[in-house]
Amino acid sequence: MAVRECEALIRRGYRREIILKKIRKYGYDGEEIFEIARCRIKAREKFSIHNLYFDEYGLRYSTPELIGQYRAERIRGYTIADISCGVGMQAIFFSFTNPSVLGVDIDERRIRYARLNARAYNAKNIEFIVGDCFSPDIMEKAKKYDIIFSDPARKESEKERKLETLIPSPLKILEKYGEREYIFDLPPQISREKLPQDWEKEYISLNGRIKRLTAYTGNLRIWDRCAVSLPSKDRVCGYEDDDFTLENELSNYVYLVDESIYYASLLGVLERRTGIKYLQTGKRRTLATSSSLVESGFLKPYRVICEDKNLESIISCLRKHDAGKVTLIMAVEPGKYWKIRRAIEEKLKGKRKMVLFKINDIFVAGENVT
Ligand SMILES: C[S@@+](CC[C@H](N)C(=O)[O-])C[C@H]1O[C@@H](n2cnc3c(N)ncnc32)[C@H](O)[C@@H]1O
Repeated sequence: MAVRECEALIRRGYRREIILKKIRKYGYDGEEIFEIARCRIKAREKFSIHNLYFDEYGLRYSTPELIGQYRAERIRGYTIADISCGVGMQAIFFSFTNPSVLGVDIDERRIRYARLNARAYNAKNIEFIVGDCFSPDIMEKAKKYDIIFSDPARKESEKERKLETLIPSPLKILEKYGEREYIFDLPPQISREKLPQDWEKEYISLNGRIKRLTAYTGNLRIWDRCAVSLPSKDRVCGYEDDDFTLENELSNYVYLVDESIYYASLLGVLERRTGIKYLQTGKRRTLATSSSLVESGFLKPYRVICEDKNLESIISCLRKHDAGKVTLIMAVEPGKYWKIRRAIEEKLKGKRKMVLFKINDIFVAGENVT
């Protein structure tokens, strides 16, 4: 009740001190209630149910519902120990497709929240305990489960992501828990050369953006690497080297390619599957083209309306096509995006929404076709 009231006050724009005063009047820990309420407002983007419990860290690193559900569809029928379970999200989704799940976390408050979250999701076959995953009693209990899952905490900022600096480190988990099946949730930025070759690396994106790298070991491994696009659940996998062609000629359609494809180095596999050709590739933006429309969960398509080296010619073409709003899909100097966009839109009077790419020095105006 206090959380709901606190949330309503935050939404109505009340100052933090005033809200804390009101909550304390009821005899609650004001800071904790305030944090849960603020997290619930943010959590709407990640979870379909509302009465969940988070601390700020627990929410930021909690597995989004669509990813939790996807993994639980892939991993079915095992007993699973999640030995760094946070506020319990991935463990809860595993419990819907697996007969028994154990969640362990070193942080007492997160385990308290994980239990409440399991109740909110009506998860049954799940147990949560507080403890260090390397303590002898926890290890003895967790080792009875078929699979050890760990989504370790990350350092807030780090030049280069490494297995050694994850908390708990997967390397230490392997050493302590010995030979068996593991699933690790790793930062997708970690270099693949730093991971054992015999792990499957599955890169998962949400709405085109890279979100997770899941590593599967032992019998859980099927491929060398895969890319999965959510919510479409489209998936491409490969073993072989990633040969693909870079094209200079723009055709009738231009596509924004899902980031998971780039991270998984599967551009060649997607090219052979769909017939698209790449115009440019990069971590944040890979573009492709084709003469007829290709439908794939990995491709966000735009019909090419006009192309020109000269921005003024493109603006006059946009005017002819009744454009009013133009989303820029190009590298712009930090902080300049809106200044440039407004300068273009001031010259337009129409109603249609368009996009403007800059591909190898050529401006390309396009229209969303999905
Ligand atoms: C990224 S979070 C897990 C998020 C979780 N998968 C989810 O979906 O909500 C990592 C968690 O590892 C926990 N942790 C770190 N070291 C640990 C250890 N030695 N034993 C158990 N838990 C640990 C942290 O307290 C943190 O809550």
